[in-house]
Amino acid sequence: MKDLTATYFFKAKSGVTPEFASQAICEEQTTGTWTDISTVNQSTEYVHTYDGEVLGVEPFNDGFITRIRYPYEIFEPGNVPQYLSVIAGNLFGLGKLEAVRLLDIDIPKELAGSGAKFGIDGVRKLGGTEKSRRPHIGTIIKPKVGLNPKDTAKVAYEAALGGLDLIKDDETLTNQSFCPLFERLDAVMDSLDKVKHETGKKVLYAVNVTCGGDKIVELAEKAVRAGANMIMVDVLTAGFSAVQALASNPQISVPIHVHRTMHGALTRNQSHGIAMRPIAKLVRCVGGDQLHTGSISGKMGGKADEIISDNRAITENFFDLKPVFPVSSGGLHPGKVAAEISGLGREVVLQAGGGIHGHPKGTTAGVIAMIQAMDAALENIPAAEYAKTHEELRLALEKWGN
Ligand code: 3PG
Ligand code: MG
Repeated sequence: MKDLTATYFFKAKSGVTPEFASQAICEEQTTGTWTDISTVNQSTEYVHTYDGEVLGVEPFNDGFITRIRYPYEIFEPGNVPQYLSVIAGNLFGLGKLEAVRLLDIDIPKELAGSGAKFGIDGVRKLGGTEKSRRPHIGTIIKPKVGLNPKDTAKVAYEAALGGLDLIKDDETLTNQSFCPLFERLDAVMDSLDKVKHETGKKVLYAVNVTCGGDKIVELAEKAVRAGANMIMVDVLTAGFSAVQALASNPQISVPIHVHRTMHGALTRNQSHGIAMRPIAKLVRCVGGDQLHTGSISGKMGGKADEIISDNRAITENFFDLKPVFPVSSGGLHPGKVAAEISGLGREVVLQAGGGIHGHPKGTTAGVIAMIQAMDAALENIPAAEYAKTHEELRLALEKWGN
């Protein structure tokens, strides 16, 4: 089908029928408004081509689920901000509704865009894991903010020595004066070059280029020219079009790591807001190569079955768009690795900040402990058992449990 369908959960205010409520959403987001209008008349009847259609309304929990078909023609292909205004715009404020949550969207090929440059396979190729297809292990430099470029690079060196695949900035670190982006990038890339020379391991570093829309492409191009091998963007604060502008730019020839900070404001309430699924699907459309979709055992909440389905949505076949590498992050440590792998599988990036830099023996030992935990999980050996012969893992489990 060429049209886009959106699925919503909603609760209607008392006295409002579910049929009326879903029709109200459908009309508000397409050709209607709260009353009939003289501008839609016999001579402008063609406007009805662009009417939406309520495909069904079913009771669900303490509310209803409705599916709405939006005609392809009311979208401007490629304009994701405009897609959002249709599928997730005014409807959230409609007075006849007590709550409404966008659960999912089915995007037709004509609106899907061209997606990522690298995707899972491209990132795996860079990391040398296309054959083993093991999870990637990553870290977020901690503290989140505060370290100067030299100390950031020292942490990066120690992390890379441990043998991980990815190091990233945290979401609030961009280009502040205590740690200017280009100084940090130079210093971190020097550390990674040193490790490559010493151990042969190539490590990716996602430098956070999140900034205003007038500067982001130029900043990212400059970062790539300065040697960045990955860039990071906070998609919900910078906007989907920021990711799209980066992904579609041929000069930006590195993968894009997409963070979802602020998502809880949209995703957390089970009755109102926007679920992660549509956000994840749109990130795939605009060209994210890696996307934070949540961890099933970490600190951020989130339901395992939703995360598993979200990951499926960005990795299963979807026209000719590349699969996005799901990132599990937030409160992970070696004791949680087995649960993440058993729930999310191998096509995942497992990231730990505190769970690496908080290791009793420091960052390098923290990375080694994460890798040991992954090896144990992939061999189906309980972490506690594996820890008997793996000191770093033993110390991590002693501190944080299993
Ligand atoms: C992230 O950006 O994913 C978080 O900073 C994770 O940090 P944590 O592993 O210390 O929770
Ligand atoms: Mg963070």
